[in-house]
Amino acid sequence: MREINNIVILTGAGISAESGVATFRGPDGLWEGHRVEDVATPEAFQRDPALVQKFYDERRAKLQTVHPNAAHKALARLDADWGGDFLLVTQNVDDLHDRAGSKRLLHMHGELLSGLCLACGERSAVHKDLSSGPACPHCDQVALRPDIVWFGEMPYQMERIELALAQCDLFVSIGTSGAVYPAAGFVRSAAHYGARTLEMNLDPSDGSLYFDESRMGKAGDLVPAWVEDILTNG
Ligand code: APR
Repeated sequence: MREINNIVILTGAGISAESGVATFRGPDGLWEGHRVEDVATPEAFQRDPALVQKFYDERRAKLQTVHPNAAHKALARLDADWGGDFLLVTQNVDDLHDRAGSKRLLHMHGELLSGLCLACGERSAVHKDLSSGPACPHCDQVALRPDIVWFGEMPYQMERIELALAQCDLFVSIGTSGAVYPAAGFVRSAAHYGARTLEMNLDPSDGSLYFDESRMGKAGDLVPAWVEDILTNG
């Protein structure tokens, strides 16, 4: 088996579930009472901007009540202590990986604590409600939308991610249903280029059959144990 030097990790909503952040595809198929398509598409924003702004304002406010869990902290420890290449790609728009201390981190679906200006295209830090109409700090226009990659939009940093997938020796997917592309396809890209692949999830994901190994359970239990093992044994 090839020696592990370069690790790429993908996380999804499941890693934040134990912190109290709702996942998208719960048993009732709703996300905090809404169909994902009603609050997470450019069309939804065009149709009813107030509803969409309010929805993300509530998600942003909720961040103040949640905290990184053992899985976020274990990945931050791995980032700090792993001598080789490392990249953590998250689909999550919460800031729990950031707060846990992860540095080599990329938010491919945007961030709740960021706003995207529809007038000038710049991104800026956002800590208050966008419903209250704050101006863009770059161009002074009141035109900020949530900096969230909605359905039908291109995720951030895809070139960098594809390169990392092609170069990694180990690809690990944590807490994601594998229902949304392009992230759902990362396991096949990594495997195509020769990486070993591992999934840790509560239930089998849509892509489970593509992984060399699937571990089923809570991220808060599985991830710290796996990190301890890889830091000790490589
Ligand atoms: N530990 C590990 N996995 C868990 C836990 C837990 N404690 N709780 C739930 N899960 C798993 C579920 O079994 C499910 O497979 O996490 C997964 C969450 O899946 P989704 O809700 O579909 O979230 P995600 O895969 O991140 O969604 C992808 O969809 O709506 C878009 O842009 C949004 O980034 C999001 C994307």
